[in-house]
Amino acid sequence: MKFDKVLEGRRTIRRYKNEPVEKDEIKKVLKAASLAPSWKNTECWRWYVVTEEKLLEELKQNGLAVQNQPKVENVPCLIVAACETGLSGRDQDGEYASNTIGEGWSYFDTGLAVENLCLEAERLSLGTLIMGIFNEEVVRKMLSIPESQHILAVIALGHPDVEPPMPKRRKLKETAVFFE
Ligand SMILES: Cc1cc2nc3c(=O)[nH]c(=O)nc-3n(C[C@H](O)[C@H](O)[C@H](O)COP(=O)(O)O)c2cc1C
Repeated sequence: MKFDKVLEGRRTIRRYKNEPVEKDEIKKVLKAASLAPSWKNTECWRWYVVTEEKLLEELKQNGLAVQNQPKVENVPCLIVAACETGLSGRDQDGEYASNTIGEGWSYFDTGLAVENLCLEAERLSLGTLIMGIFNEEVVRKMLSIPESQHILAVIALGHPDVEPPMPKRRKLKETAVFFE
């Protein structure tokens, strides 16, 4: 698939077929995520991949926001995106670079990786849904995620059962300033 087709074709998918995703495909999307740039190549992102039926159901029912639960009804795989804190955003002395957003760079790095993951899923004709609202405490406990990591999102991965149109985008003049 051509890059522009992948880029334009990726959509947030809110209805999935009741079909499994191959382990090999899951590995491919995570590999794509790992190709993202990161602060000093620290790769602070961490992934928790849930396909085991009972745990998956528990995560859907207790970990996700109520409004997201119906959207992932048939999803065979949920990937929790977290980041190890204290790696990104450090200067030569190991201090947070003073002119920056500190730990925010971990979120920045992980966001880049998540987009790679979503684009690779699209290339494989899989759909994704990034969920920013979830029960942090429940997800952490359920998956034994250490306190040193911040949990950023839960990502659904599966076979799309809808073909949503692209939601309207802002005009470039609303988001970009050109100094020419
Ligand atoms: C950080 C983040 C959190 C999001 N959280 C949710 C969510 O909880 N539920 C949901 O249905 N969509 C969620 N979305 C999806 C956005 O609504 C979606 O990306 C946006 O409407 C643009 O649509 P598109 O992804 O098809 O281009 C989230 C997206 C991002 C990047």
